[in-house]
Amino acid sequence: MANKVTQWNASGDVTDRFSRPLRDLRISVIDRCNYRCPYCMPADVYGEAFEFLPRRHWLTAGEIKRVAGLITQLGASKLRITGGEPLLRRDIVDIVGKLASLPGVDDLALTTNGTLLADKANDLKAAGLKRITVSVDSLDEKIFKEMSGGRGDIHSVLDGIAAARSAGLDPIKINVVVQKGKNDATILDLLEHFRGSGMIPRFIEYMDVGTLNGWKLDEVVPSKTLVERISERWPLRPLERNYRGEVASRYAFEDGQGEIGFISSVSEPFCGACHRARLSADGKLYTCLFASEGLDLREPMRAGIGDADLVGLLQNAWRSREDRYSELRGKETKAADESRVEMYRIGG
Ligand code: GTP
Ligand code: 5AD
Ligand code: SF4
Ligand code: SF4
Repeated sequence: MANKVTQWNASGDVTDRFSRPLRDLRISVIDRCNYRCPYCMPADVYGEAFEFLPRRHWLTAGEIKRVAGLITQLGASKLRITGGEPLLRRDIVDIVGKLASLPGVDDLALTTNGTLLADKANDLKAAGLKRITVSVDSLDEKIFKEMSGGRGDIHSVLDGIAAARSAGLDPIKINVVVQKGKNDATILDLLEHFRGSGMIPRFIEYMDVGTLNGWKLDEVVPSKTLVERISERWPLRPLERNYRGEVASRYAFEDGQGEIGFISSVSEPFCGACHRARLSADGKLYTCLFASEGLDLREPMRAGIGDADLVGLLQNAWRSREDRYSELRGKETKAADESRVEMYRIGG
């Protein structure tokens, strides 16, 4: 029967309409955040009255483990925990422990704003987390605070990073969203600080994710411009990608002081090698960061669906995937699509 849920076949990895396999799952465990970065959750939209998901809609740690486990059986081996801010979830250590115990997972990472990291780093490491990525848009106190929506304190984030280092989380990557006129004048200072530390700063082009950040193309600083600016101070040498589909282009400082990365989804889209699925906190599977709809897994799980049928749903979703939003963005002059999912709901 053509459309019936396909029986899961343990021998086969699944591929989409453009022959892209499923290799990574990004798992958003919560839609709330203690920051209000204007490029993600602008404070005027996400105020006191904003209704986030009710807790009963969050997947439980067990449900997350179940979906992740089944997805590994379709070929995924890389898991990343995101939010909102994932460390706001009280059972985050349990979630990490459950995901770390899955066979077939060879990379388990987490992206955080770092505010709660000083307290949690040791427990996360002990539960099986391998590495961590912390968002730090600037080391300038004022600019940092402004880019967190008036809430962030750079010192607490640096304490969190120090705790992650001493806990042995490695490598530590530092995500910097670059917005023209906001933090672009502070990136050399940031590099001065992190150079030679073993940590890896990555500069991310400001993206038109969601519908609420009022994105404008002229606020994007293309990676090429940044590479030129940085090279004038410290010569850089391009490095090979670590794995096919890695979003960052890597460079090394010629003087041996470490590595940096550039994530250029606006100026150089990387949809052709996009192997990522995303799971939202309420259990929807999205096949693109810019998707407008996800496949609900929570309802069927709570109604008692068996593993074979659940794998079938996942497999069908991936097989029919034809997303390549960033590539098309450059080609079409699109009117803003009012239905795109917001970034904080699927964790980037
Ligand atoms: P590594 O596993 O260390 O390579 O991390 P990562 O770069 O995949 O993850 P991270 O959470 O640090 O994301 C860095 C930035 O890349 C964020 O702004 C994400 O939104 C963006 N990003 C990650 N995956 C994709 C993607 O598939 N498409 C687009 N357009 N952006 C992505
Ligand atoms: N453009 C680019 N990156 C973004 N992030 C959040 N919103 C945007 C945006 N509009 C980043 C966060 C975090 C990562 C998961 O995504 O700063 O580092
Ligand atoms: Fe929170 Fe990260 Fe979004 Fe900032 S970018 S509001 S820290 S989820
Ligand atoms: Fe993947 Fe969609 Fe990002 Fe393209 S725009 S790289 S398809 S998530």
